Amino acid sequence: MTLYRQAATLSSLFLWASISFAQSKQPVSPFAYQSVKDQVCNKAAVVSAHPLASAAGLSVLQQGGNAVDAAIATQWALAVVFPVAGNIGGGGFMVAHLANGNTLAIDYREMAPAAATENMYIDPKTGKANTRLSQTGHLAAGVPGTPAGLFACHKYAKLPMAKLLAPAIALAQKGFTITEREASGLNGSKAAFEKSNTTLPVFVRNDRPWQAGDTLIQTDLANTLKRISAQGAKGFYQGETARLLVNEMERGAGIITLADLKNYKVKTRTATTFNYKGHQIISMPPPSSGGILLQQMLGMLENRPLPQYGYGTVKSVQLITEVERRAYADRAEHLGDPDFYPVPIKQLVSPTYLAQRMANYDSTTAGKSSNIAAGLPAESSQTTHLSVVDAQGNAVSVTTTLNGSYGCKTVVAGAGFLLNNEMDDFSVQPGVANMYGALGGKANAIAPGKRMLSSMTPTIVLKNNKPFMVVGTPGGTTIITSVLQSIVNVIDFGLSAHHAVNKPKFHHQWQPDEILVEKAFPQNLRAQLTAMGYTLKEVNAIGRTELILVMPNGKLDAVADGRGDDSVAGY
Ligand code: GLY
Repeated sequence: MTLYRQAATLSSLFLWASISFAQSKQPVSPFAYQSVKDQVCNKAAVVSAHPLASAAGLSVLQQGGNAVDAAIATQWALAVVFPVAGNIGGGGFMVAHLANGNTLAIDYREMAPAAATENMYIDPKTGKANTRLSQTGHLAAGVPGTPAGLFACHKYAKLPMAKLLAPAIALAQKGFTITEREASGLNGSKAAFEKSNTTLPVFVRNDRPWQAGDTLIQTDLANTLKRISAQGAKGFYQGETARLLVNEMERGAGIITLADLKNYKVKTRTATTFNYKGHQIISMPPPSSGGILLQQMLGMLENRPLPQYGYGTVKSVQLITEVERRAYADRAEHLGDPDFYPVPIKQLVSPTYLAQRMANYDSTTAGKSSNIAAGLPAESSQTTHLSVVDAQGNAVSVTTTLNGSYGCKTVVAGAGFLLNNEMDDFSVQPGVANMYGALGGKANAIAPGKRMLSSMTPTIVLKNNKPFMVVGTPGGTTIITSVLQSIVNVIDFGLSAHHAVNKPKFHHQWQPDEILVEKAFPQNLRAQLTAMGYTLKEVNAIGRTELILVMPNGKLDAVADGRGDDSVAGY
């Protein structure tokens, strides 16, 4: 049944507000909300891709929850109000620095199903990879990790999980009004939803296109969330939800089985930590490439005169571009799931190696990716990020993903959630680019139970052992360069949190050999870079960064990216 209706009248708006966020001291109506882009908060802040998800996080903080509670509630809510990327059918990573000094890196990345094979997307007749299958429909889905991950993170939270799920359940059951951006996303994916589903999901409306202000009600999703609330992670990985997911797979020639769901494992990793100019950076280790590449790129920048070059000069853009080129060449060759492939982490981040990598850097001319191979001997864009700091000094940075917009576009019929298309983050065939244009090889080849390489880079920067920045973004392979640029924008260029997030970004990933620049990237810089020999390609937007900066007076400068509906909630 299609469950949508026009925006509710004002009189009903505040009724829902009181139901959804009963404990919130700053009630937000699911039918009349706004994005808050910049807010200085005295004690605590949540920044996420959607105002209602940030409000869900804030409401649990106000009920006595900590930053981990807020991060969990925000993610459950994102699965409802931000279906393009928020998810229970995908996966993610949580990096946290707790007030007691402990650092966490929790990996709930999707796993390849047991029946997956290295050549599963290669057409036997042509010998070529069919990336349509790794990107759309049932076969593109990895075994979801998000529900198990949120239960693993819950060990560090204070409130019962049912309380953290309550806002999401209310939003799914009673509905919320969608934004113009979401309406346009749903309309743009209509044909893909029709093609990838045997039962038409709630996201397809046939009477007319979606419009801003329409109400989206997701009854099946509400029922799935209620099963999780009542039964814990088993409410997703076993019983009714698992049965619905496996039935969906059988209808669509997918390969996820009941055993795959039962065998899904969250992994607790050791965070990637390193120093940069008096700050300690904490980020996600493999199977993310984010932490390692961040360490490589900041390591290559550290002894160069970036602050003297200044923000937005051709010299600083060129230097950062060349550093990005070299790190991404290594990503393609050496990074993958460390439980399946011996990622040479120590060598990749050693100062001697990083100095060698920059030996052929020439500050007067464009480098060439054809001259930059991986440096050691051989051996998505729909993701979403949230940053939280609470009054006790706990800091949480979470990036989670379906991979492409609305994942593989397949909704589990009867369970109401979208599945990821994360299998495309594997290297489906050497030399064949994934949907972000990234290449890979043996390190990131498909194998049963393996986690696909990610770029998600949830990051926390400490100063004097206390949280200074909490940062992350979606954007597929551009994630790592956006996080890098946000960090150097603050540390090297002294930009405000607002400008660090919103000033135009650029991206180089070795192959293709081009610099992606945002629309607002200045024309004079483009001309100078082109004159040096660079190829530039304009893209609409790079990332949606959610940044919390702790100011010297202890207040929090929280910034939600201006590129989307992203929003701050705090007090
Ligand atoms: N799916 C995007 C990433 O994990 O990098």
